[in-house]
Amino acid sequence: MKIGLFDSGLGGLTILRAVAKALPEHSYVYYGDTANLPYGDKTEDEIYRFSVAAMDYLFGEGCALVVIACNTASAETLRRLQDEYLPAHYPQRRILGVIIPTIENMISDNVKEALLLATKRTVDSGKYERELAKRGYPLVLHAVATPGLVPLIEAGQGSVAAETAKGYIKEALVTHPAITHVILGCTHYTELKDALRELFGNRLTFLSQDEIIPEKLRVYVGAHPELMEVVPEEGRGAATRTIHLTAHRPDYDRITAQLLGGVMVQDE
Ligand code: DGL
Repeated sequence: MKIGLFDSGLGGLTILRAVAKALPEHSYVYYGDTANLPYGDKTEDEIYRFSVAAMDYLFGEGCALVVIACNTASAETLRRLQDEYLPAHYPQRRILGVIIPTIENMISDNVKEALLLATKRTVDSGKYERELAKRGYPLVLHAVATPGLVPLIEAGQGSVAAETAKGYIKEALVTHPAITHVILGCTHYTELKDALRELFGNRLTFLSQDEIIPEKLRVYVGAHPELMEVVPEEGRGAATRTIHLTAHRPDYDRITAQLLGGVMVQDE
């Protein structure tokens, strides 16, 4: 089956890398909306419009299932896409996000107090808090908007971004010393996990979505065998990985290879 991944930029490639490694038998199409990045400071309506364009592209490419790897788009548009867009356009296909799997993970890990690092839009949406409340789970969540990180990561400056993130975390720990977990609540921040674990590893646990989504997706795909039949595939050949970016820059090829762990895939 073809699985689509959607992110506002290149950051979600870390999710593609992890998912394609865990479920290599499927084909993947990645849509990075580099023309409209960052989403973190856009309005809800703008993000919905960009998300619809991404869904049109990915379903048009024959994806039976799309994972919105972007927290900001998951927070702002997932429900509306599921309730309005899918029934009207692709009733048999499915769209999943990354926030609910992350919350389920925290609940099963029995997390009591956590720091959420995310874009301003994700923080303002209150989506993490709402999903926790729906499940009646009493987690104390401190959500901090970290707007400076995405442009640094998109520019391939991971170590500067890690230093900046370190500052946000230290500040939160001063006022909330009982924090035990940090949610890297933006696809781009998965890129910072190693550096942050090195700095805070003996005190904090970092939840990184590239380590959460593959297993959740495996369970979901296993529970929905009908998705395999939704899009007729011409001559089920070898699994493919395709990247579609809405705008190109000369340094994207290098950054793409870096985020994919050195693996080059077909670029459109
Ligand atoms: N990748 C997006 C996320 O996960 C954020 C980046 C942006 O601001 O576009 O939230």
